[in-house]
Amino acid sequence: MCYEFKLWKQPLMYTLGVVLVSCVFLYLASIFLFKDPNCSSFELLHYSSRFTTPQFGHDSSPTNLNHLLFGLLGSEEAWHFRKEYIESWWRPNKTRGYLFLDVAPRGDDLLPWSSSSPPYRVSDNITQLIEETKHVAPTMARMVHGIMEVFREDHEGVRWVVMGDDDSIFFVDNMVDVLARYDHTKYYYLGGQSEFIMSNHWYSFNQAFGGAGFILSYPLAKAMSKYIESCLRRYPFLRSADQITMVCISDVGVILTPLKGSHQIDLRGDISGLLSSHPKAPLMSLHHLDATESIFPSIERRQSVRHLMKAANLDQSRMLQQVICYNRPSNWSFSISWGYSVHIYENILPRSHLQLPIETFQPWGVTPKDPPYYMLNTRWRTNDSCEAPHVFFMKNVEKTKRYEILTTYSRSSPRKLLSCSYSGNHSADYISKIEVYSPRRKRIEMDRCECCDVIHKKGTNKAKIKLRECRVDEIIA
Ligand SMILES: *[C@@H]1O[C@H](CO)[C@@H](O)[C@H](O)[C@H]1NC(C)=O
Ligand SMILES: *[C@@H]1O[C@H](CO)[C@@H](O)[C@H](O)[C@H]1NC(C)=O
Ligand SMILES: *[C@@H]1O[C@H](CO)[C@@H](O)[C@H](O)[C@H]1NC(C)=O
Ligand SMILES: *[C@@H]1O[C@H](CO)[C@@H](O)[C@H](O)[C@H]1NC(C)=O
Ligand SMILES: *[C@@H]1O[C@H](CO)[C@@H](O)[C@H](O)[C@H]1NC(C)=O
Repeated sequence: MCYEFKLWKQPLMYTLGVVLVSCVFLYLASIFLFKDPNCSSFELLHYSSRFTTPQFGHDSSPTNLNHLLFGLLGSEEAWHFRKEYIESWWRPNKTRGYLFLDVAPRGDDLLPWSSSSPPYRVSDNITQLIEETKHVAPTMARMVHGIMEVFREDHEGVRWVVMGDDDSIFFVDNMVDVLARYDHTKYYYLGGQSEFIMSNHWYSFNQAFGGAGFILSYPLAKAMSKYIESCLRRYPFLRSADQITMVCISDVGVILTPLKGSHQIDLRGDISGLLSSHPKAPLMSLHHLDATESIFPSIERRQSVRHLMKAANLDQSRMLQQVICYNRPSNWSFSISWGYSVHIYENILPRSHLQLPIETFQPWGVTPKDPPYYMLNTRWRTNDSCEAPHVFFMKNVEKTKRYEILTTYSRSSPRKLLSCSYSGNHSADYISKIEVYSPRRKRIEMDRCECCDVIHKKGTNKAKIKLRECRVDEIIA
C-alpha cells in the first residue's frame, strides 16, 4: 500500500497526501522502532558491538577461510550433474571440508576423483540405528548424522562448521567476513529461513534451511556431534533433516540467528526479480538453481552460475548489492544489482520502492489461495511504462588500469512499451549497454548503501555509472 506508485504522481491531492504522510510516518517509525529490511539501523548497532569485541577466547586472530569446515551432503546419483555447482565456488586446497555421498562414486565422469571437487567420504552406515528406531526418513537421518561425521573427520583449529547440500552455492569470502563478527567460542546457529512463508510455517520459523547452508560455531558443532545419535533416536518420527537438526540444536539450548544473505531459494521460475533487489546484507549463499530458470536468461543454467562467479571472484562484498541513482536530465532511475543486473526506469522512483523485488517468481510449494506467500514484500510485474524496467544483465567483468572493477551489462530484450509520458517521454529504448565502475577496495562495513553517479550523453547508446561512498548527509532522492 505504502508503495503505490501513483502516490508520487499526484502528491498534492489531499487524500493521497494523507496516505503519503501516514506512509512517511510508518516508514520513519519503522526506521526508529523496527528492523528496516534494507539500510538497517539494527544491523548498524549489531556491527559496531561486534567490532568493539576485541578478541574471542584464546585465539584472537582474524577469522579466515581455513577456520571454516564445510560438510556437503549429496548422493552419488545427483553428483554427476551437480558437481559443477560446487566446483564453481570450491577452492581446492583452500576451502576445507568434505562431500558425503550415500555410496562410493562410479563412472568415468567421476573417477578418478576430480581435484576441483571437495574430497569425498561415504556416509556412515546407520542402518542399525534406522532399524532399531524405525526411523521414518533414513536419508534425512544420514544427512543429520553428517554433522558428526564431518566434525569427526577434521576439527583442528576449526571455528565454524558449515553444512550445505550438493547444490548450495557459497560465497566464501563473504562468509568469512560475516562470521568474523561473531564470537566463535560462543554457541551460534546461523542460517537462512525459507523465502516461502509456508515452509517456515510447516517446519519452523526457528529453522535454518539446509540448502542455504547452516553454520554452527565450534562449541555447538562439538555438542551436536556428541548428541547426534541419541537425538536421532529421540525423534525418529521427524521427516526433514533441517527440522531434526533444529530440534536437536534446540535441545542444546540454542536457537537460530537468521542471516539475510543466505538464500534457500524456495521459489520457482524466474528469480531475477529477487536477485535484482537483494537486501543490504552480504550475499552468503544461493540454492535450488537447478530448479529455477537459469539466472542469466541467455546462458545455460550451470554456465550461468560460473558467469555469476566471475564477478564474485573479483569482489564478493558488492555482489548483488543494490545501488540506486538518478539521471535528472531524462528523469531516469538506475537500479544496479552489482555483478548481476541493471534496471532503468523512465521515471524517478524512490529507493523504498525500488528495493522491493519484482515478483518475477512463483512460490516453491503448493500455493495457498491467498497471499502472503513470501517472507518479503514484493512489487507486481507491470506493463505500465512509467514503472516497468528496461532490464540489462551482466555481460563482462574486468579490472581496469585505474584500480577499479568494470562490470558491463547488456540489454536482455527490447522492452516493447511506449515511453513514460508523465515524466516527459524520455525513452531509454536506445540504451544497449551500461558500464558500472566500482572501487577495487572491498566494502566490508555496509552501514549505509553506496551512492553512484550517472554519466550519459543524450542520444548515445551507452550509460556509465560510477559507484562511490555517499557524502555525509547525502539524501538519495
Ligand atoms: C592440492 O594439494 C595436493 C597435495 O598437497 C596436490 O597434489 C594438488 O595438486 C593440489 N591441488 C591444487 C588444485 O592445487
Ligand atoms: C549396513 O549395515 C547393515 C547391518 O547393520 C548391513 O546389513 C548392510 O549390508 C550394510 N550396508 C552396507 C552398504 O555395507
Ligand atoms: C505485458 O504485456 C505482454 C505482451 O502484451 C503480456 O504478455 C504480459 O502478460 C503483460 N504483463 C502484465 C504484467 O500485464
Ligand atoms: C521530469 O518529470 C517531472 C514530473 O512529471 C516533470 O515536471 C519534469 O518536467 C520532467 N523533467 C524532464 C527533464 O523532462
Ligand atoms: C508524450 O507522448 C504522448 C504520446 O505521444 C503525448 O500524448 C504526451 O503529451 C507526451 N507528453 C509529454 C510530456 O511530452
